Amino acid sequence: MLVNRKVLTLDEFTIQQLRSFPHATGELSNLLRDIGLAAKRVNVEVNKAGLVDILGDAGAVNVQGEDVKKLDIFANSQLVGVLSHGISCAGIGSEELKEIVVFDDEVSNQSKYICLFDPLDGSGNIDVNVSIGTIFGVYRRVSPKGQPCTKKDFLQPGINQVAAGYIIYGSSTMMVYATRRGVNGFTLDPSIGEFTLSHVNIKCPAEGRIYSVNHGNFFQYSDGVKKYIDACQKKTKASGGPYTQRYIGSMVADVHRNLIKGGIFMYPATLERPNGKLRLLYECNPFAFIAEVAGGKATDGNRRILDIEPTELHQRTPFFIGSSSMMDDLQLYINEN
Ligand code: AHG
Ligand code: MN
Ligand code: MN
Repeated sequence: MLVNRKVLTLDEFTIQQLRSFPHATGELSNLLRDIGLAAKRVNVEVNKAGLVDILGDAGAVNVQGEDVKKLDIFANSQLVGVLSHGISCAGIGSEELKEIVVFDDEVSNQSKYICLFDPLDGSGNIDVNVSIGTIFGVYRRVSPKGQPCTKKDFLQPGINQVAAGYIIYGSSTMMVYATRRGVNGFTLDPSIGEFTLSHVNIKCPAEGRIYSVNHGNFFQYSDGVKKYIDACQKKTKASGGPYTQRYIGSMVADVHRNLIKGGIFMYPATLERPNGKLRLLYECNPFAFIAEVAGGKATDGNRRILDIEPTELHQRTPFFIGSSSMMDDLQLYINEN
């Protein structure tokens, strides 16, 4: 991975990419810029979360039956706002909304893309000043242009994503997005309020030494997963000693770190949650797409995540993602047990 010293903003970069596609319309660049704008607004609120009354539960429960934090609602409304006012998105699906939202107006009906997102990931960490994020996936609609988009546009396998990305609100704020051509990272430069290209052509190291999993659930995991975790802890000196365990509880932060440094992140099925916790459409698919473009892998322990044909907007899946050789190793343990 190169760190580019020349400042190229997100807009400049996406426009530069367009130049090599003479027939491109620029719709995707517009959409990414819209998401970037919403992210900047969320970032401002995240940064002052300790100062104003936007911390804590909003007193509502989202469609998943989980407590909704105020920033979740704020982030959701910012994303819905920019995408509905923009000209590049025909509709959205969000973790915070039970049903898809169809932007049924003349301009949006002409748009070729739809977007799925988790407006705020790791919201349990807001109150304690720990990194949180936003996750999104973009698909070309399958319904005809000129008409309102439909649920079918949202229930596509992840492999159909045109672009996917995330924003991490961390010690700095970064937007990372992937198209089939590569994964690039943009760090928010607060002095000019722009995301600027900082991580060019991110590749996930094939080998890593970090494993990320909620150990509290250990005794609920399958034998294969338990034995793999055991093996992570028992690596011999010859193989470099035991792996390091890191688990923040914000998937964006955990997977971002492992993407850059090499590692594996797991949210397996548990006795309480036989389908795992994470949502396929707007949490797992975007990260699976990013990981694969970067050379990593993502599965549900059995199938490639990107091949799963979704049936529901909010469906969950067990999730394993990371460095290719660690994922291969995990698969051996799962297959043997
Ligand atoms: P969200 O805040 O969007 O509901 O997602 C939280 C997710 C994910 O970010 C994280 O990896 C996982 O929940 C943590 O779950 P556990 O506390 O069960 O480990
Ligand atoms: Mn989430
Ligand atoms: Mn969320």
